[in-house]
Amino acid sequence: MTTPSTHRPPIEPPSPEAVAEAGRLLRAGALVGLPTETVYGLAADATQGEAVARIFKAKGRPRFNPLIVHAADHGQAQGLGRFSPAAMRLAEAFWPGPLTLVVPRAAESPVADLVTAGLETVALRVPDHAVARSVIKAAGRPLAAPSANPSGRVSPTTAEHVAQGLGPAVSLILDGGPCRVGLESTVVAVDATQVSLLRPGGVPRAHLEEVLGRPLDDPDRAAGEQGPEPARPASPGMLLKHYAPATPVRLEATHRAPGEAVLAFGPAPLAGDGPTINLSARGDLAEAAAHLFAALRSLDASGAPGIAVMQIPTDGLGEAITDRLRRAAAGSGECPAPGTRQKP
Ligand code: TXA
Ligand code: MG
Repeated sequence: MTTPSTHRPPIEPPSPEAVAEAGRLLRAGALVGLPTETVYGLAADATQGEAVARIFKAKGRPRFNPLIVHAADHGQAQGLGRFSPAAMRLAEAFWPGPLTLVVPRAAESPVADLVTAGLETVALRVPDHAVARSVIKAAGRPLAAPSANPSGRVSPTTAEHVAQGLGPAVSLILDGGPCRVGLESTVVAVDATQVSLLRPGGVPRAHLEEVLGRPLDDPDRAAGEQGPEPARPASPGMLLKHYAPATPVRLEATHRAPGEAVLAFGPAPLAGDGPTINLSARGDLAEAAAHLFAALRSLDASGAPGIAVMQIPTDGLGEAITDRLRRAAAGSGECPAPGTRQKP
C-alpha cells in the first residue's frame, strides 16, 4: 500500500521538542504514532471521545472493539481501574512492560466511553518504552492506543510501517526505531475469581503463572467453545482473521513450492528458489518475535505467489508467534477488510 508523498504524516526523531509537540497535538485531539516496546501505537487522548473516534475512523476499526489505555505509571493506571490482589501482583511484576490488564472500570474514570466500547471493564498497560511514557506525561492524560495499522492487517514495528498504513489521519509519528519485543502485549482479564488469557503476547504464559502461583483460566475452554473462532470472542479484538498479509500464507511447511517465499526458523531453512527470511537461525523465540511482522510485510511485498512458514515451537513466546501466524494464514490472500482501503 503506498501513500502519495504529500499525504505522508511527518516522522520525527523523539527529541524533547518533538515529544512536547506530540503532547500538545494529543491535548488538541489529534492522533500521534507512538513507539512502544511491543508495536507502534496510534495514540489519542483517552479522555476525549472525539479524539478517540478518530482512531476508529483512521483504522477502519469496528466500534465494538475496545482500545487499550496507556498510563505513564502504575499510580496513574490505578486511577482508571479497580485492581484485585491478583491484578496488583501482575502489575507490580510486569509493569512497565508488555502486559495489558483488563479490570473493572474505576467509578470516577475520566476515560471516554468509546474507548471501552461500552464495557464495564477497561484494558490498561504501562509501556516499557521511554518515549511512550514521556509522551503520556507530556500530554498529561492517559492515552488510548491500538496498534497503528489498518484494522485486520499486520501490526507496525517501525515508524515507516505506520506512515505506509495510516497516512494523513496521523498528525505526527515519533520514530523510536524498531520495536524491541515485536509482538503486541499479552492481554489478561482479571476479575474477583479468575485470571484469563485473552490474547497471548509479549509476556509468556509461564511467567504470569509463576507470579500467580497457579495456571491461567482459559475463557474459551471454560465456555466449552473449542472451535477456531468462538461465537463470542472473549476479547472482542481476537477474531480469527487478523494480521493478514495479502499473499496466501500456509503453516508448518516442510517443502517450498516453485517461487514460493519461505518464512524460516532455525538452522535449516527450506531449500529451493524464492525469497527467504529466517526469523532466527539460532532458533531463538525472542529474536523471531522481534522480526516477525517486518518479515511478513517484506515477503508479502516480494511478489511471491505464497508464503510457506516453517514450524515454530509453541512454548514461551512461541505461543504468541504461532497465534499471529495462524491468524495470518486464516485471513490471508483475500480482499482487504472493509475500511482498510487508503482514503484520498
Ligand atoms: O502491545 C499492545 O498491546 C499494542 C501497543 C500499541 O500497546 N496495542 C494493541 O492494541 O495491540 P489493539 O487495540 O490492537 O489490541 C487491543 C486488544 C484487542 O484484542 C481488544 O479487543 C482487547 O485488547 N481489549 C481492549 N479492551 C478490552 C476489554 N475491556 N475487554 C476485553 N478485551 C479488551
Ligand atoms: Mg491490533
